[in-house]
Amino acid sequence: MNICVIGAGYVGLITALCFGKKENKVICVEKDLNKLKMLKNGTPTIFEEGLDELLKESLRVASVQFTEDFELGIKSSDIIFIAVGTPTNDNWDVDIAQVDEVINLISPYIDKYKVIVTKSTVPVGTQKYIKIKFLENQVPKGNFDVVSNPEFLREGKAIYDFFYGDKIVIGCDSLKAEETMKKLYEPFNIKMVLTNPETAELIKYTSNALLSVKISFMNEIANLCNKVGADIDVIAYALGLDKRISPLFLKAGIGYGGSCFPKDTKALVKISENYNCDLDILRATVNVNEKQRVLPVIILKEYYKEVEDKVVAILGLTFKPDTDDIREAPSLYIIEELLKSKVNVKAYDPMVTKEIKNIFPDITYSYDMYECLADSDAVIICTEWSEFYNIDLFKAQELMRESVIIDGRNILDKAKIKEANIKAYYSIGKGNIRN
Ligand code: UGA
Repeated sequence: MNICVIGAGYVGLITALCFGKKENKVICVEKDLNKLKMLKNGTPTIFEEGLDELLKESLRVASVQFTEDFELGIKSSDIIFIAVGTPTNDNWDVDIAQVDEVINLISPYIDKYKVIVTKSTVPVGTQKYIKIKFLENQVPKGNFDVVSNPEFLREGKAIYDFFYGDKIVIGCDSLKAEETMKKLYEPFNIKMVLTNPETAELIKYTSNALLSVKISFMNEIANLCNKVGADIDVIAYALGLDKRISPLFLKAGIGYGGSCFPKDTKALVKISENYNCDLDILRATVNVNEKQRVLPVIILKEYYKEVEDKVVAILGLTFKPDTDDIREAPSLYIIEELLKSKVNVKAYDPMVTKEIKNIFPDITYSYDMYECLADSDAVIICTEWSEFYNIDLFKAQELMRESVIIDGRNILDKAKIKEANIKAYYSIGKGNIRN
């Protein structure tokens, strides 16, 4: 099929390349000329498992073409995916300005029947809104249908998820569009949920919201574990044996981050408010997460009472391992709090990016985990990068001025902590050790 994907961000790029792999002809339209140049040269613009190979192969077999030319993209395609950013404002409203811009740009080129699909996460009601906008832009009624087809791709595993996901959700109000979408997705052999647009739009938010609820709930229970002497990992294991609960997304820590959960939970709270239908559980989930992500600073202050001029090492800056994404990472909030309290911050991340240096230009960036630990009064583990699991605790104890470890991701073994004579160890729901 002939497909156009608008936006070569994380969702758009993966969508374009993965459809290209299934014998479709894809044109990916991107207005950022730097990004475009990189993609045309086969250079990945994001860090994603398998992307480098897939991009190079797509260019070699010419299954995907990158261009800034909207007219070419729209006129040559039967299906058009909108995959542009939909950030939330400070007041938690979703900003669909980029979707609006795309509608206006593509309207003049919808010269015959085309299916327009929203891949971006958009508020409930956006499908209806886009239909009205097209009509206002004089696009003939019979020339288009608008479909909601949300994505469920995890960063780092997005290509795998595209080919082997659990579900494809298609929200349509036209049989013709539904048939087109079914034909497009048939080769993937993934269960399809066919429904109306509002339901599809709400499935996306509910999915991210429910996973966030699971995490925040386990984080609260973890905090209780530390008070009563219980072990959160054993609780998670036991709960996970119950098929009704599932073992996934029960891992306690210093909260969820990234470009999706924090944004989508807040957006859904706001959407519900707009309909006078409060989502109290979700609101609490957001609050719990906001508290949880700065918990290490509270622990540090309880330990030291006075933290000014202390040196604190941060291990891990990204919101999760195996990504270079720092958006909404707990590390950002922790560093901000530490700096407010005049703590000297050192940080190390295996993939540390330029962006974080722009946010915190005055902290010390280390290029090695041990260099980061040297002469520090405490370390906070913010991201569970695999290299941190194997940290040599004897070496850490020698290097640190005070071996105080706050393990925000519960990755260290308490028996080894004791063996290495670490001065203090704090976990999230697995008990603490003070020597
Ligand atoms: C998430 C969803 O998992 C995808 O299905 C969805 O498509 C995507 O958002 C999106 O809306 O685009 P992603 O943001 O890549 O994907 O990250 P996850 O792997 O889901 O992790 C999110 C956060 O939850 C991370 O900060 C992670 O550390 C945290 N987390 C996850 C926990 O704290 N505990 C867990 O048990 C699992």
